[in-house]
Amino acid sequence: MTAKIISGKQVAARIKESLKNEVGLLKSKGILPGLAVVIVGSDPASRIYVNSKKKACEEIGIYSEEYALSEETTQEELLRLVRTLNEKKDVHGILVQLPLPNHLNEKEVINTINPDKDVDAFHPINVGKIMLGEPDYLPCTPAGVMELIKESGIDIAGKECVVVGRSNIVGKPQAMLLLQQHGTVTICHSRTKNLKEVCKRADILVVAVGKPQIITGDMIKPGAVVIDVGMNRLENRKLVGDVEFDSAVNVAGAITPVPGGVGPMTIAMLMKNTVKAAQIQLLSK
Ligand code: GUN
Repeated sequence: MTAKIISGKQVAARIKESLKNEVGLLKSKGILPGLAVVIVGSDPASRIYVNSKKKACEEIGIYSEEYALSEETTQEELLRLVRTLNEKKDVHGILVQLPLPNHLNEKEVINTINPDKDVDAFHPINVGKIMLGEPDYLPCTPAGVMELIKESGIDIAGKECVVVGRSNIVGKPQAMLLLQQHGTVTICHSRTKNLKEVCKRADILVVAVGKPQIITGDMIKPGAVVIDVGMNRLENRKLVGDVEFDSAVNVAGAITPVPGGVGPMTIAMLMKNTVKAAQIQLLSK
């Protein structure tokens, strides 16, 4: 038996299609949802992500503007731009692409974004609301993962959920979203002992560590739902996830591919948050 392949590309297309209608509705009320995307420096991966985000805006009918700043940008210049965007009426969502060059203070930049415009849900206020189970915005990648789990057909309540990775962007908020859906959640990380045994307990396994193919088929419970958040470029240029797909696909019940799994979902969820941002700011006017 090989696993069902969960196509993030297809699920994302469906979500973007329904967002087009919501954008149409907002436009009929005189509101054009707007996203400002800020990129500092010339990291090639960040450039690809930012281009994909802009393209998705175009597809859906969201207005977007890009601020591509040089590697030498100072903290003060970047903060000044964020403050300007906070005030800008045609910008409902602000996204500062991470990572920033080393000389810049990411935390201070995130803390300066108006939480109402924080479509990444990185601001401490939004992180706190996620923790309390009362989010305005869901963090894009974890929210995309939840949609893919839903697509697999599994009911999360009571299931053993294992998240491998404890980053602020994915692992930690992912664990909160699974807990909110009544999963029994374990978070694994670099100091975890017996990673294999813990992973093998999982009915739902989410892997987000950024290490190519560290999860192999022998670490997966037969029939489990496996969501691979990793995106790693091998020396031979091949793009692979954190899961070794070829061995995992023979054990899992459902699995996401890389590429075409979580990646497109992150962008679809960003679009969803941007539309929501326009709706929230329409109501608070
Ligand atoms: N870098 C990697 N993932 C993300 C993301 O979801 N948002 C932003 N702003 N930067 C990222």
